[in-house]
Amino acid sequence: MKGIILAGGTGSRLHPMTYAVSKQLLPVYDKPMIYYPLTTLMFADIREILIISTPNDLPSFRRLLGDGKQWGLTLHYAEQPKPDGLAQAYVIGADFVRGEPSALVLGDNIFFGRELPALLAAASARPSGATVFGYRVRNPEQYGVVEFDDQGKVLSIEEKPRAPRSQWALTGLYFFDRHATAIASSVKPSGRNEYEITDVIRTYAERNELRVELLGRGFAWLDTGTSDSLLEAAEFVRALERRQALRIACPEEVAFEMGFIDKTQLERLGRAMPNSEYGKYLLGLASEH
Ligand code: TTP
Repeated sequence: MKGIILAGGTGSRLHPMTYAVSKQLLPVYDKPMIYYPLTTLMFADIREILIISTPNDLPSFRRLLGDGKQWGLTLHYAEQPKPDGLAQAYVIGADFVRGEPSALVLGDNIFFGRELPALLAAASARPSGATVFGYRVRNPEQYGVVEFDDQGKVLSIEEKPRAPRSQWALTGLYFFDRHATAIASSVKPSGRNEYEITDVIRTYAERNELRVELLGRGFAWLDTGTSDSLLEAAEFVRALERRQALRIACPEEVAFEMGFIDKTQLERLGRAMPNSEYGKYLLGLASEH
């Protein structure tokens, strides 16, 4: 299974912070934002990943992440010239995905939960159809919203509706079978002139091939689009990490846990950052094992 991280956009709600730096490279407490969605894909055992960003920002992502070998991954890069919508990921990534199943995650989406790895493994093991994740929010009108009946059958999917039919927002993580590229290529621009991922998802729903997993209590899905939500996400990560003396979303640690790299490689990664607490944490992990 292949993975795509969509990390373009303008980040206009974070101006002026995002004039010179991509939103997905801003720190969320102790690590760059993109580490969070990257490790989400890694938990799904996805090792070949395409990173899509703006022509301006792509070189910075390459500098940060390289070819991915240090974490046992293979990373590819592609430009999205303009932020014309999420479904474009599958048009830009058509050659990369090449008719295989794939997962798409937005570069600014942070997921946390003990059950998450199992849920991701189940989604990636499903041979056909699409799996998306619903999260109950206070302000559904700002998201794609999914409505279902008592049996859990999807009744409607609407992008940023003025009058939401449910509290359930669609998160920025999607698993698709090999048909995603073909479906995305046939999507027409919406009223706001974007190629909407909700149109791709709706096609799966119409074919009765959509599964919506609801992330209930015990899961966090955090927003980072505004200064307040970015700070709140950082506070959440800080509180968890300090309390448990365990870090979340460290690609080095996840790579080690998933068996993508061995202890010697983990140690080398820690030694490269001797002055940071993050580096010391990696060295501590290596010495514990
Ligand atoms: P948004 O939050 O909708 O947009 P944005 O990040 O540009 O922020 P703002 O609204 O403040 O201007 O995008 C969600 C995510 O998807 C984010 O990680 C950026 C990414 N994205 C793209 O990479 N390409 C696109 O065409 C769009 C619409 C979004």
